[in-house]
Amino acid sequence: MQTHRRTTLCDVTGPDATPKASIVMVSDPSSILGGTAMNALDSTSGQRSTAMAGQKLSGKVALVTGGTRGIGAAICRSLASQGASVAAGYSGNRDRAEQFLKELEEDFAGQGRASIHQGNVSHPEDCRRVVQEVLGEHGRIDILVNNAGITMDKMAMKMSVEEWNTVLAVNLSGSFFMAQPALEHMVERGTGRIIFVSSVIGETGNIGQANYAASKAGLLGLTKTLAKEAAFILARAGRLVDNGVGITVNTVTPGFVATEMLENVPEKVLDKIRSQIPVGRLCRPEEIARVVHFLAADASAYITGQVWGVNGGLDM
Ligand code: CAA
Repeated sequence: MQTHRRTTLCDVTGPDATPKASIVMVSDPSSILGGTAMNALDSTSGQRSTAMAGQKLSGKVALVTGGTRGIGAAICRSLASQGASVAAGYSGNRDRAEQFLKELEEDFAGQGRASIHQGNVSHPEDCRRVVQEVLGEHGRIDILVNNAGITMDKMAMKMSVEEWNTVLAVNLSGSFFMAQPALEHMVERGTGRIIFVSSVIGETGNIGQANYAASKAGLLGLTKTLAKEAAFILARAGRLVDNGVGITVNTVTPGFVATEMLENVPEKVLDKIRSQIPVGRLCRPEEIARVVHFLAADASAYITGQVWGVNGGLDM
């Protein structure tokens, strides 16, 4: 994979560009993935998947915000494993982003190109700049994955205005600010895929997460609205064709995923959470990524405005 080391995208900072929380792959996800017993699936967690899995995204360009760590990194790798060129966004940790790019280059050599882009998704001007950079480097954007997100957990009655505003600004407004310029480009071309990474918390709520739950629930309404608008605009332009790729907008709602985001959750709370998950363990980032690359494929053209839960049955 050829790499382009331009610095510029997007992700997990507050409006002042200071990292407010981390969304990073833990070095040993197995330590928080399950209970005491590891099952067969657990034993594969944390490994870098390097194999090409198929060619269904060959020639496509994907932009993934918060793409150098945690769920975002797994999504980038999954898209690359299907032949896509990948532009990964990050906010503050340039060294980690450079390292991620190097690994992607090594693991998917000859499979398209990769680039990293620094920016703050809560700044609309950063989002427009990053979209332009990706277009400049890769020539097109077929797939936008809005994954960047943060938590600032606090009981609602103790939550400050800043904690409320910052989480909404990154998780919800940031996703809109990225989707807007990407959608303009996709409408021009008549094809595209936008996938939001929301959370089961947006559907169920959670103690200590009023800001996060509201931001993730907001993504569900945003998804359905953009899905309707994209189809409407294509239809009005006479560009909705049978067997066409079209433009689809969908959301994935992960459950509790083994990333560094869980490191701030008190152990007794994490135990309670685990006990509520019917399949009995936390989710692996790769299990979110496989749904994303499924939705990103041309053949998923009939799926739009939908919410895909990947939560081990937590919302039943
Ligand atoms: N479910 C059940 N009980 C919970 C709970 C939860 N999600 N969160 C807190 N509680 C319980 C605690 O166990 C505790 O109960 P006891 O008094 O019986 O021991 C009680 O609520 C008060 O909790 P704390 O003592 O921790 O109170 P605090 O004021 O010090 O902290 C808190 C409150 C900030 C909410 C803290 O409990 C916390 O960080 N909770 C975790 C929040 C969480 O689940 N975050 C998810 C992060 S991962 C993510 O967001 C990604 C995603 O999409 C899923």
